[in-house]
Amino acid sequence: MLVGKKILLVIGGGIAAYKSLELIRLLQKAGASVVPVLTRSGAEFVTPLSVSALAGQKVHAELFDLTAEAEMGHIELSRSADLVVVAPATADLMAKLAGGLANDLASTLLLATDKRVLMAPAMNVRMWEHPATARNLETLQGFGVLTVGPDAGEMACGEFGPGRMAEPARIVEAIDATLGSGDLAGRHVLVTSGPTHEPIDPVRYIANRSSGRQGSAIAEALVRRGARVSFITGPASAPKPLGCAVIEVETAREMLAAVEAALPADAAIFAAAVADWHVKAETRSKIKKKGGETPPPIELAENPDILKTISHKPEDRPSLVVGFAAETDDVIANATAKRQRKGCDWLIANDVRPETGIMGGKNTTVTLITQDGPEAWEPMSKTAMADRLASRIAEALS
Ligand code: C5P
Repeated sequence: MLVGKKILLVIGGGIAAYKSLELIRLLQKAGASVVPVLTRSGAEFVTPLSVSALAGQKVHAELFDLTAEAEMGHIELSRSADLVVVAPATADLMAKLAGGLANDLASTLLLATDKRVLMAPAMNVRMWEHPATARNLETLQGFGVLTVGPDAGEMACGEFGPGRMAEPARIVEAIDATLGSGDLAGRHVLVTSGPTHEPIDPVRYIANRSSGRQGSAIAEALVRRGARVSFITGPASAPKPLGCAVIEVETAREMLAAVEAALPADAAIFAAAVADWHVKAETRSKIKKKGGETPPPIELAENPDILKTISHKPEDRPSLVVGFAAETDDVIANATAKRQRKGCDWLIANDVRPETGIMGGKNTTVTLITQDGPEAWEPMSKTAMADRLASRIAEALS
């Protein structure tokens, strides 16, 4: 599945570095060749000899290595691969790239590369949860850096929580998804997903029941066909899709800004359940309950309609814009009218009456509405529906 692909693998310094040996083995089994780069601290955990023996290649370690420079300069090295993978990606490596530092071979390669970068973070729970790491992750994702993991579980340091490096097999899956060479290769597709949260005060918010499952499934189906996917999600409970640039937002207004920043795109799929309103006067301090008073009124203001805004964009409008309609009554009639009103090309109508179990569930029954009218799809899993939609998108863009 990765036959002929070349992976530049940066091994950072962490206990998870031993798993990178297994990663090299799995990548080779999948047909890829691995060019290993070992940081100085990485070499404290795995030896250059074991890495080069497994990779069947010289290990690159020093920025100013005269022999290496004579053979291949570090800039060239950074560009010779199909993908740069950092596993384990330590807090330090993440911080270096987020801050633009280039003081050793690994960080220089990461800054100089013109290829996509996939990081598999691994660190202590507190380091992962530190606001500095969270900020760096956000910055990196903004640069288009892809991530896989970390997983939650017991850690080598004895603590428990998120921070374990994703298993090598999962990293290979993410690499495979990223390097997919399907019928959407070279296309950029934007997907919105999940609910939005609209704050009332610092502790309360208005939300909805969207799990984000459909959006994640669509993003993964697009990645499997080789698309470059920008996945813009509200606070969803579904796992984030692999192989995408993930941009996390909270409110509808933030989602619109993130969508506009991610353009241009060949297609845009608006699967998010965006709140129609936000609280007009969000308070900075918690609204207090005082005895005997009537409850405080909450005045709402309209949110921007992201689908409508992008559908009517004079410039940068994706050539295919797809919206969703969650309806409880007169599903087809309402959805057909909605397609017109929103100005999108396709609209996918869902019957979300509670008895259908669609909202938050694993299965769905949809009707695709195009300019040619409604087309009912049989009931299927959200993953199967995502695959069918991705195939139709590939057809439409071809
Ligand atoms: O109007 P309604 O919420 O039913 O429209 C649903 C479609 O519009 C979905 O594709 C949803 O992602 C999108 N939408 C949006 N911004 C809003 C409201 C809905 O993009 N503020």
